Amino acid sequence: MMRLPFQFSARFGTLIKLQPSVRSAVSRWCSSQPGHATRAVDVGTCLEVDHPRWPHSIRISYLWLRDHCRCEHCYNFATAQRAFDITHMPPNIRPASIVNTAEGVELMWPDGHISNYNYKFLWQNTYESCRTSHKTQQLPWTGATFPKTDFITVTLQDMEKTDKSGLRKLFGSIVKYGLAFITEVPPDTESTRSVIEKICAIKKTFFGEMWEMQSMNFEHFDTAYSQEYIGAHTDTTYFSHPCRIQVFHCLQPASEGGENLLVDGFSVAQQFKERDPVGYEFLSSMAIPSEYREEGVHHYTLDTVIKHHPVTGNISRFRFNVYDRAPLSSVPLGKIEEFYYHYCNLSKIIRHPRNEYWLQLEPGTVLLMDNWRLLHGRNSFRGTRVLSGCYLDNVDFTSAARVAGIQLE
Ligand SMILES: [Fe+2]
Ligand SMILES: [Zn+2]
Repeated sequence: MMRLPFQFSARFGTLIKLQPSVRSAVSRWCSSQPGHATRAVDVGTCLEVDHPRWPHSIRISYLWLRDHCRCEHCYNFATAQRAFDITHMPPNIRPASIVNTAEGVELMWPDGHISNYNYKFLWQNTYESCRTSHKTQQLPWTGATFPKTDFITVTLQDMEKTDKSGLRKLFGSIVKYGLAFITEVPPDTESTRSVIEKICAIKKTFFGEMWEMQSMNFEHFDTAYSQEYIGAHTDTTYFSHPCRIQVFHCLQPASEGGENLLVDGFSVAQQFKERDPVGYEFLSSMAIPSEYREEGVHHYTLDTVIKHHPVTGNISRFRFNVYDRAPLSSVPLGKIEEFYYHYCNLSKIIRHPRNEYWLQLEPGTVLLMDNWRLLHGRNSFRGTRVLSGCYLDNVDFTSAARVAGIQLE
């Protein structure tokens, strides 16, 4: 519906027509309804919006606002895709009028186009609010502060609840601590698959979808298929995007040894940053190669050990595997000494007993680990040890977590 610039909003709210000459003077719109304290303020190149439920006001560019119009002409609600062409947007665009209502803010643009934004949409999608709004916190741990079993465990029955509360607890635990357990799962590969598929699709790699790893089974000549001790590492470092979630279900423990080792890479990174800040910078910027080869397979990638969120700067991925390091072709002669010095410093922190958490996996308990955060290893063992597992890809896992209501970004 086209509306005149001076018309009062049909819905509750106050409309003020902005003249360019008085725009800066007329800078505050308050709803007249008692007790209602939403606010939309013109502050020159942007709009300042406040809501009683927000911890602070937020400033939003008029360019952003015009771009994010959610009317049926500018946005396709069926596909959740944009339909507005920003090349038609004047760089100095300002609204002709601003109305704040109980539901949100209404702007009329100089061409008469009307845009409405509800407060929830503005809070969930603008820079200042996204940087401060509550997200599930990541809580780094050491061997001594390993999370309590209750916090990180759901049962098979929890996973089957129709209200999805078990699933949400599982996602929350993985985001907070980097791991979760599902108990009471029948100790066979198919039951493991069935419970994992309640989370998201299983990623198919050259190891297959569900794998079953038996000691002395040389189906793949990976160290993991031997009986040797394996130091803490992350998996698939040779993929440009390593697998996100690693799933382990011990179907048959070894008669001696074979305990699993977990180390929190984010906690290690924090300690490394404190002890060797130059090394932290070095390993955050110097890409190193990782590689995996077997008959018919050759994976190779170049990337840094530490990666950060592109907006917050917080650590977002830890990639560390001494077994899968490829020949070091990416580090120039002048940086070689530095590389080995810092990489060994980091390795010592990873291997420090303070950071290690050892556990014996039992049949019936499925372990899920965030392979972008946690390192895992295992003790040498004797006898037959059967482990079943799979990987989940980042895109599938994070999509499922968002659908379950977990705020990640
Ligand atoms: Fe591994
Ligand atoms: Zn529109």
